[in-house]
Amino acid sequence: MQMIAGNWKMHGAVADIAPYAQAVRAARLHVDLLICPPAPLLPAFATALAGSAISLGAQDCHAAPSGAHTGDIAAALLYEVGAHFVILGHSERRGDHAESSAMVAAKARAAALAGLTAIICVGETEAERDAGQAEAVVRHQLAHSLPEGFTGMVAYEPVWAIGTGRIPAEAEIAAMHATIRAGLTGQCGPAGAGMRILYGGSVKPGNASALLSVPEVGGALVGGASLKAEDLLAIADAAPGV
Ligand code: PGA
Repeated sequence: MQMIAGNWKMHGAVADIAPYAQAVRAARLHVDLLICPPAPLLPAFATALAGSAISLGAQDCHAAPSGAHTGDIAAALLYEVGAHFVILGHSERRGDHAESSAMVAAKARAAALAGLTAIICVGETEAERDAGQAEAVVRHQLAHSLPEGFTGMVAYEPVWAIGTGRIPAEAEIAAMHATIRAGLTGQCGPAGAGMRILYGGSVKPGNASALLSVPEVGGALVGGASLKAEDLLAIADAAPGV
């Protein structure tokens, strides 16, 4: 079964939760559906989705279990308010907050200790792809962003495809996902063979069917199109059957 994950980023308000939850609860799903709203919305979202099969995730966590880290959020608190997943190392965090792969690995360790499944994002910039460096960059990010004993998921998100409406050719996605799969089995042993590798970057209802049919694509991480429940559900509908 594929996973369709919605990343609301810094969008959304309390008033959006009830209609959104009602829409996704009413859907017949053949995928795992995950919503990652801004952290302050998690408790009310958890209440609105209680008893459903739809999961909640956060968009970041801190590497330490607690402490003097003003503005940061501990993984255990995210879990306590209803998150079971956490996106880590998104390119916007790597860019806006200068997060290194080593920091991402430390956060992933903290997430696992708190019971959260991490979705670790990797992906090259356009300049790196143009320079023929895309696979090397992603291999390097993967090697340094995944902690020992990692059991989560990876999302391949080419930076130049995020929020731009541009997507790689299917063959490029297939090649990169094969590279990531090889990295995962090398780093994580047999467990790496079964880990989901999501594709993210301008996934929309109109291109989801093609993207989700690419070999080794185990689902999608959806930004802009996740803000409307009907669009996220149309993407979920486009996933190949189980
Ligand atoms: P997008 O974002 O779907 O708006 O391109 C994807 C992401 O950043 O996770």
